[in-house]
Amino acid sequence: MDVQSVRGFVGTKLSFADASPDVGLRKSEAMDPEALIHLVSASGLRGRGGAGFPTGMKWKFARAEVRSPKYIICNADEGEPGTFKDRLILTDFADLVFAGMAIAGRAVGAEKGILYLRGEYEWLHAHLEGVLARRRNDGLLGAAVLGNRNFAFDIEIRIGAGAYICGEETALIESLEGKRGEARNRVPFPVQSGYLGLPTVVNNVETFAWVPCVVEKGAEWFSAMGTRKSPGARLFSVSGACDKAGIYEYPFGTPLRRLLKEVGGEDAKAVQVGGASGVCVPAAQFDRTLAFEDLATGGSIIVFGPQQDMFAVAENFQHFFAEESCGQCAPCRFGNVRLHEAILRMREEGLDADTEASLRSLAATMQAASKCGLGQSAPNAFLSILDNFAGELPRPRT
Ligand SMILES: Cc1cc2nc3c(=O)[nH]c(=O)nc-3n(C[C@H](O)[C@H](O)[C@H](O)COP(=O)(O)O)c2cc1C
Repeated sequence: MDVQSVRGFVGTKLSFADASPDVGLRKSEAMDPEALIHLVSASGLRGRGGAGFPTGMKWKFARAEVRSPKYIICNADEGEPGTFKDRLILTDFADLVFAGMAIAGRAVGAEKGILYLRGEYEWLHAHLEGVLARRRNDGLLGAAVLGNRNFAFDIEIRIGAGAYICGEETALIESLEGKRGEARNRVPFPVQSGYLGLPTVVNNVETFAWVPCVVEKGAEWFSAMGTRKSPGARLFSVSGACDKAGIYEYPFGTPLRRLLKEVGGEDAKAVQVGGASGVCVPAAQFDRTLAFEDLATGGSIIVFGPQQDMFAVAENFQHFFAEESCGQCAPCRFGNVRLHEAILRMREEGLDADTEASLRSLAATMQAASKCGLGQSAPNAFLSILDNFAGELPRPRT
């Protein structure tokens, strides 16, 4: 497949287009690893894969581990429905991602990186191998990065097999080890015991891509964008009922309403922020902001038009979770199937108060007792649709 043909529409100017990946890499080579981690921490960069964990802190924990070898893993699984920004980054800005991984390696003391590529992005493989080969040839990867014998770093690409759970970092690590994609217990965290039981940093594609920009332009350049709790800007994958679906960059703190105006989705009835595992925001709340402290998102924005049947949306997402649950823990394995069946029923028969109470209780159990983020977040869309659109259900028979 021609890599550029699926690139998609880019609706705003992207900071990545102005960055020079290897200026950041060169600067990092001249820095002491502790100073490098301090710089990333000072920028306030938080992970772009969804949870928003502070990147500098993750690297600091990994650096503090004495066991080696250590690993740097780039999570390019991009399985959240409605997310396609990592695809664009890998297509247009792979050098930034690979430079970011090398900088992470220098910061934590890792010599080996692995890019875990979503199975459905196999067509990007040859392009990415080409970028890696060029970087090796240019002395930007290998036994002596930039000629420095104390800076060895190389990257291997491994392909996933198409399971949503394998985007969860510990299931991803299991999958890399050749096992079933199932989440591990946390504690130990991957920074302590990750790939092959060794200290491992897992970051999202976009997180790595921001790293050389931060090193090149400085922590203040980055933190001047966004909000105090969510510094910087991020990419959004916008799809659904709007005129200009595509990739957009906005600083954190941007009101959802502004994004909708710019993508031509002003008449939206609701917006799903954060993909299937995110929340459904009704029009009355479009002044809310896109930031970790308000509407947190891994970057997926799905716009629903005025005619959209919202319980069809809930049914679709719950079906997705019932299919994608790895089946390891009972709240997720049973809960998603039960919620899916209940949504099918309520679309026909309405929802009485007792059934609603028991479904809310089931959802709360899934959120509290599922082993990983898949089951914990799976009821979010259903609950926010129930909270805001229950009036669309038929009246229950008495
Ligand atoms: C079910 C599930 C799927 C996930 N899928 C992805 C994914 O496709 N890409 C990603 O970067 N993070 C994904 N995550 C989050 C990762 O577990 C992890 O938090 C992230 O890769 C860490 O990188 P960051 O700190 O740069 O965000 C997923 C989490 C869960 C629970």
